[in-house]
Order: sequence, then structure tokens, then C-alpha cells
Amino acid sequence: MNAALKDRARHAFARQFGQEPDGLAFAPGRVNLIGDHVDYNDGLVLPLVLPLGTSVAWGRNNLGTMRAVAADFNDESDSFIPGRKSTATPGWKAYLRGMSAVLQSACGDAPQLDLAIAGDLPRGAGLSSSASLCVALGRALQASGAAVQTTPVELAQAAQRTEHEFAHVACGIMDQMAAACGQAGHAMLLDCRSLEMQHLPIPDGWAVLVVQSGVTRGLVDGAYNLRRKQCNDAARRLGLASLREARLSDLAAAALPEIEARRAQHVIEEIARVESATNCLANDDLAGFGRLLNASHASLRDLFEVSHPQVDRLVDILQRAVGNNGGARMTGGGFGGAVVAVAPGGEVQRLKNTIADEYSSSAAETIQLACGCGRHASGKTQCTLQDQHQ
Ligand code: GLA
Repeated sequence: MNAALKDRARHAFARQFGQEPDGLAFAPGRVNLIGDHVDYNDGLVLPLVLPLGTSVAWGRNNLGTMRAVAADFNDESDSFIPGRKSTATPGWKAYLRGMSAVLQSACGDAPQLDLAIAGDLPRGAGLSSSASLCVALGRALQASGAAVQTTPVELAQAAQRTEHEFAHVACGIMDQMAAACGQAGHAMLLDCRSLEMQHLPIPDGWAVLVVQSGVTRGLVDGAYNLRRKQCNDAARRLGLASLREARLSDLAAAALPEIEARRAQHVIEEIARVESATNCLANDDLAGFGRLLNASHASLRDLFEVSHPQVDRLVDILQRAVGNNGGARMTGGGFGGAVVAVAPGGEVQRLKNTIADEYSSSAAETIQLACGCGRHASGKTQCTLQDQHQ
């Protein structure tokens, strides 16, 4: 966890509750390298954790209440009696109540805690700020002894349940698994059907760039849930438990409604791309990996229809600048948010300059870059996020 973020959480705690916290918890956000809109189809995904995330400072109180403050929302506060059925409008309070309820259900003691939350992930950028918040809250609750202890996978499942039941987004499990189980500098190949995972090092010399388009995701949960429904409908028509089992030849034979056929085609081909991308990682084939990213973007744009014109423009600029040496795509749920690109480490500065020169909307002001330069003593790739313009 970066020191500045830790300090922000600790200071917010001291401001609000007048004492030092007993502990600090953290969970990262993620960028998904490839494999979007396949997790809820039992597919394969390849996320990479970011050095950014959510920090939660915690301290026990004996007041019979949960009290919390959110540093990123002008110290907005919340308090509720744990164990009582409590709801809040979607937002950080709903996630707090959700994680508290979900993790408490199997445990006798109701948490009586003070919490201060601070994050440094851009919200609405498709970098999993809500999964990072949920997992960090879960870790704080567990570290305080006020919640049932779980494995990291169970913690991810609790966070997903919170998203479903308290934020009403029918998300898959990728983001929560990345936040709970991801390892810095390693892409996580996750099989969303079995929840088996492998941590694959990013080869030395590859750079991973996360560039914000500046278009934040708006009221898109309905569109996300609709995509999920279309995939489920397609699987049902094919007589399959999920699209993981589907083949392209099944689609033609089944004469699916056109929109469902397009969604299913994306899912089938995207899962295959993740498998190929994993081979490219293992073989240090950056050009091959880049081609798969480019193809993934085209599919998310044209078949799955979850991109955004401004995101397409940024992806296009990056793809042209990287050429055959890498690639770029939208990442995450879509409808705006960040773009991910892979390129040789030595190209990063040139790409940054190109973005600054050619991506001329006011959004360019907030572009951030993550660079896995792969030259660290541990031999592992590390990500550092730099704010280019601030
Ligand atoms: C969002 C969801 C994930 C996943 C991605 C798209 O981030 O939370 O479960 O479906 O969109 O890949």
C-alpha cells in the first residue's frame, strides 16, 4: 500500500474519531489485460493488480454501532447498528453495509468498529474501485476479529455477493478475485468456472499502460445486466449451462436471435483469446499479445457493443503509435473508462508524448499511466502509476 494513501486513511480516522486506528487494511484495483465480459459466462480472464486501491483504517469501539467516514467524499460519514437489516442508497455506504452483513452472518459477534476509508483509484474508470473497496472493508472487518474469517476466495465471493445484493450489479467474480488473490507484477489467469488461478509473471521488458479516457462510466448497470441476460438467454437456447461450453459452430446451427449470436460469438472468441494470450506471456511474445488485445477491442466494440467513441479514439491512437510491437484495448465493463496498452518498456515515453499530443480532449488532463518496466531486484515486474499531468 502506498504511504500517502495509508496516511490519508489514518488522518481521516484521527480527524473523525479523535484517536489513532488499531490497524490498516488495503486491497488493490485491477486492470484486466484481456478477457472482458466472459467472467459471468464461466470463462477465462487475465487481470493484473494495480498499485492503487483502497485503504481502510479501523479501530474497535464499544458503542454497539459501526461508524465510518469516507475521506474521498469530503469526510461524509455513516453509522448503523450492525446486525439490523439496514439499507443505503448505492455508493460506499451500501458496500459497507453489505460487507458487514455478508461477513457477519456466520459469526456471533456484531462488529463495533470505527472505519476511515480512502482510495486512490479513479472511480468510474473500469479499474474495480468497488471490488477494491469491498475487499479492503472485508480485510478490516476480519483483522479486527469482528467478522467471520474466510479464505481469500471466500472473501472475493462475499464481495461479489455484496455487489449483487446491495449494489444490484450482476457482476462476475473477476474483480473481486483480483482484489483478494492477485499478486503484484503477475497477471492472474483465472478460470471463472472452477476459480482455479495461476499467477503469471509479466515478461521483463514489457510495459503495461493504463490510460484514462476521461469518460467515466455513467448509469450503465442496466446495460451491463442486460448483456449478462443476453448471454444467459443464448446459453439457454443452446441448451448449455453457460457460454463456456459453446462453440462457434453451435451458433450457426442454433439460429440464435442476431443480437444473442453476436454476444455469444464475442464470448467464445474472447475466451480463446485469453488462452492464446497466456501462451504469448509464457513465450515472451509481445507482438502476439498485442494483436490479441487489438482483436479483443474490435470484438467488444462491434459484437458486444460496450465501448464508447472516445475510448475507440484513444485505443486507435495507441494502436497506431504502438504498431506491431504491442496493442491496446478498452478494459473492464466498458461504456467509458480506462484503456490498457502493452508495449516495449523503451516505448513508454514516446507513447506518453503521443497521447498528450493527439488525445486532445480535456480528459487528457487526467491521463494516468502504469508501466511494468520489469527491471526490479526481485525479478518481478512492478507497476507504478504516474499521474502525467498533475
Ligand atoms: C465489470 C464486472 C466484471 C466483469 C467486467 C467485464 O468490471 O464487475 O465482473 O464482467 O466488467 O469483463
